[in-house]
Amino acid sequence: MSSQSNKTVTITDNTTGKQIKLPVLKGTDGPGTIDIRSLYKELGYFTFDPGFMSTASCDSKITFIDGGEGRLSYRGYPIEQLAGNSTYDEVCYLLLYGELPKTTQLLSYTNSIKEHKLLDEKMRRFFLGFRHDAHPMAMMVASVGALAAFYHEEVDVHDPVSRELAAHRLIAKMPTIASWCYKFALGQPFNYPNLDLDYTADFLHMLYSMPGRLRKPTPTIVRAMDLILILHADHEQNASTSTVRLTGSSEASPFAALSAGIGSLWGPAHGGANEAVIVMLKEIVASGKDLSHYIARAKDKDDRFRLMGFGHRVYKNYDPRAKIIRQICHDLLDELGDDNPNKPLLKIAMDLEKIALEDKYFIKRKLYPNVDFYSGIIFQAIGIPVSMFTVIFALSRTVGWLTHWMEMMSDPEARIGRPRQLYTGYTERDYLDINKR
Ligand code: CMC
Repeated sequence: MSSQSNKTVTITDNTTGKQIKLPVLKGTDGPGTIDIRSLYKELGYFTFDPGFMSTASCDSKITFIDGGEGRLSYRGYPIEQLAGNSTYDEVCYLLLYGELPKTTQLLSYTNSIKEHKLLDEKMRRFFLGFRHDAHPMAMMVASVGALAAFYHEEVDVHDPVSRELAAHRLIAKMPTIASWCYKFALGQPFNYPNLDLDYTADFLHMLYSMPGRLRKPTPTIVRAMDLILILHADHEQNASTSTVRLTGSSEASPFAALSAGIGSLWGPAHGGANEAVIVMLKEIVASGKDLSHYIARAKDKDDRFRLMGFGHRVYKNYDPRAKIIRQICHDLLDELGDDNPNKPLLKIAMDLEKIALEDKYFIKRKLYPNVDFYSGIIFQAIGIPVSMFTVIFALSRTVGWLTHWMEMMSDPEARIGRPRQLYTGYTERDYLDINKR
């Protein structure tokens, strides 16, 4: 919970001369936050902040980011330590319950997740209704929303035990759903979970195996995927998490709230960026043009082209996740033989990284490669199709979305999210009969 510091900010209305003192709230880290809740009541003004550039929409104990310093922590633990020592299962437990688990707690959590991995068989028929070329993200938005149809009566959003069960169900079923989205696009049979495997290895098994051909991914690939899941597990109040909170604030089903969050994640300015990175790299390779042509386009204000995978709304320093994943990415690329078909694309990516890191335009604006730049390249290198990238991001972020939803639902001060607006349309006017318009 935030506390009130002894600082205040005074606002004076120059028209009426009325003055109010607003308290400055203090978190455990990060900048002070002016509490403007009484502003409208006292002065009759709203505040204007499109894109939430200066607005904290809630208080939260889950994840902390210092964008200037390039720091990220989950429940106080630096991302570097979690990436170096932990597993995705353990990070899920940490996010959901606030503390690192003891061995028995972790076992009971992973057993519960295994318990809920299967999808109702009727979901197969649901999947078969999609067009043959449906985008996996479209299938994921729809199928996660459809889960509400199976559990609607059962979920009591006001009961913590019921919320926990819904969270376990969603975390458990996401790999199954994600792999079915993939298998459907390939025209291959859906795989069922293998309960002998850990969460990440099982996901890769459901993705790669076929009847008669069980595929066990190498430990390097499992570790790379587990790391990507850890790094994407939460990122405080980003667009998709805020969407989940806003949707959930109306007491909607968590399945519906998650489906809305997945829709938000899909956009190329958010989770769709790693897909956009590969599309851009392919375009560069196919054009045969020099990289400098694309760098010039990225700088041109009259051109909408941007270097995908560069820049971040919050990090104005190196994205700490990018630092961790960059190493794995370089190691993986070193392991790939020169005859690997992805090599030309990956070489362009590495050249782009080097040029952008040395170019004045990018340095001045602090546009460093972000986590999606490298995750896109890793996915490409381990043979995951581009259209599945954001699906995997959604799978990893599920735990973050749910943790925020549970935090909000257990907050006695939480209310339905209802932003205000600065109205700039017509003032009131009279209706004109259709013949007189
Ligand atoms: N390429 C070229 N110029 C850029 C880029 C880019 N990728 N990103 C920002 N700029 C420029 C922008 O034109 C502006 O220049 P000026 O000051 O001369 O007008 C300046 O840098 C600041 O940009 P902004 O649009 O004010 O920054 P923002 O905080 O609103 O946008 C962003 C952040 C991530 C949407 C943007 O950097 C971008 O579109 N990047 C490419 C897409 C991408 O990689 N997105 C993934 C973000 S990380 C995933 C996640 O956490 O969800």
